[in-house]
Amino acid sequence: MSEFAELKFRDKVYQLPVVIGTENEIAVDISKLRAQSGLITLDDGYGNTGSCISEITYIDGDKGILRYRGYPIEELAEKSSFVETAYMVMLGELPTNSQLAEFRAKLAEHEFLHESLRHHFEGFSSDAHPMAILSAMINAMGCFQPAMIEPEDDDHFLDSAARLISKVRTIAAAAYKQSIGHPMIYPRSDLPYTSNFLHMMFSKPNNRYEPTPEVVKALNQFLILHADHEQNCSTSTVRMVGSSQANLYASISSGVCALWGHLHGGANQAVIQMLLEIHESGMSVDQFIEKVKNKDANMRLMGFGHRVYKNYDPRARYLKSACDSVLQNLGVKSPLLDIARELEERALNDSYFVERKLYPNVDFYSGIILRAIGIPLNMFTVMFAIGRIPGWIAHWRENHLNPNGRIHRPRQVYNGQTVRSYIPMEER
Ligand code: SDX
Repeated sequence: MSEFAELKFRDKVYQLPVVIGTENEIAVDISKLRAQSGLITLDDGYGNTGSCISEITYIDGDKGILRYRGYPIEELAEKSSFVETAYMVMLGELPTNSQLAEFRAKLAEHEFLHESLRHHFEGFSSDAHPMAILSAMINAMGCFQPAMIEPEDDDHFLDSAARLISKVRTIAAAAYKQSIGHPMIYPRSDLPYTSNFLHMMFSKPNNRYEPTPEVVKALNQFLILHADHEQNCSTSTVRMVGSSQANLYASISSGVCALWGHLHGGANQAVIQMLLEIHESGMSVDQFIEKVKNKDANMRLMGFGHRVYKNYDPRARYLKSACDSVLQNLGVKSPLLDIARELEERALNDSYFVERKLYPNVDFYSGIILRAIGIPLNMFTVMFAIGRIPGWIAHWRENHLNPNGRIHRPRQVYNGQTVRSYIPMEER
């Protein structure tokens, strides 16, 4: 039985259909509101607005639940691999052995960059931020591949997706090598996804880097936990750009740009910079917390707070527990982890944070693990992007395959000057 919401305005009542999702989320469908009533809605920052119906990821922000295609991220982080999770996020089901083998083969097939693309890196300044390079090079990749893929065709789609997921590693590692003036390292087709990335990052022509199983596992878990997160800022950007029928590379490149902001994916780098500032300044955690609470200081506790999670981000919970085992396995002591723990303890017992339901998010502990692995600080958000690529691709395709899909074009409320006449220069 269909349910309706009623909107009463002036002397009229409008009936708006209600949509109920498989997890009983309830939405008022306003797609016919303007036609019925001439009214539009206003929702600065879209905090109350659903942009689409999606089958990819479910979040319960109050209970701290996150599932990709119904699978809890905790189980995937424990039992899956990033490559298997990427396949499942994009295609909707866990792959069979043969499907996974075929996907892995595609990743190996596409791991090289066109030699002409490699020359682009020499054009970037040595201090260029790797996120700028990543976004530029993903778009440049589009020049070498069919501009528009047929998202309806699974094989063609999987090939293009594998191309992007594979080459993004090579681009990221090449950007790092360029920034330190080292020669770029070619991928090795005998290495699995994460090991191959670490090889390209840390091997040298005269010295091959062999990651320990603990490092590979930690990075795999990091990438799994970042694979998707429904309609976050960067994913919504990918869907927005893709809605104009822009090709996959242009859409993903725009997602990289959105992720770069320090309120979004750039927060993992900002958290470490914050912890280093506290550590090196000798400031106490209490002093730092008091500064954050002072609005005039215009400071935030980076890695805390979330638009959706009003409880502990399940990814932060997992990464916090992983910190101990990873650092212990790597024999790494981290004073920054001690500071992070103290900050969390202090904040979760402070009314400023409790009243605003501010809890650690995915970025609060993730940087501790990346730092322990040896990933350079300015590559942290690139690591977030590598993890998020499968989610962006899945949402781009879901948008394209939507039979009712339209270009995304929000309305606005105009609050500027009303009509007025042009003033000749001599009268101004
Ligand atoms: C990610 O959306 C996603 O799903 C993103 C993500 C994903 O996987 O894609 O989960 C990844 O981006 C995680 C978030 C990483 N960003 C940070 O850690 C930066 C620090 N956090 C924030 O700036 C903030 O919490 C946001 C951006 C995450 C959410 O911002 P909102 O929902 O717009 O909340 P808001 O800015 O309106 O804050 C509400 C109140 C304000 O105080 P009052 O005006 O009510 O007095 O809470 C305060 C804010 O000042 N506040 C904080 C705070 N975050 C919010 N105060 C201190 N420190 C913080 N971190």
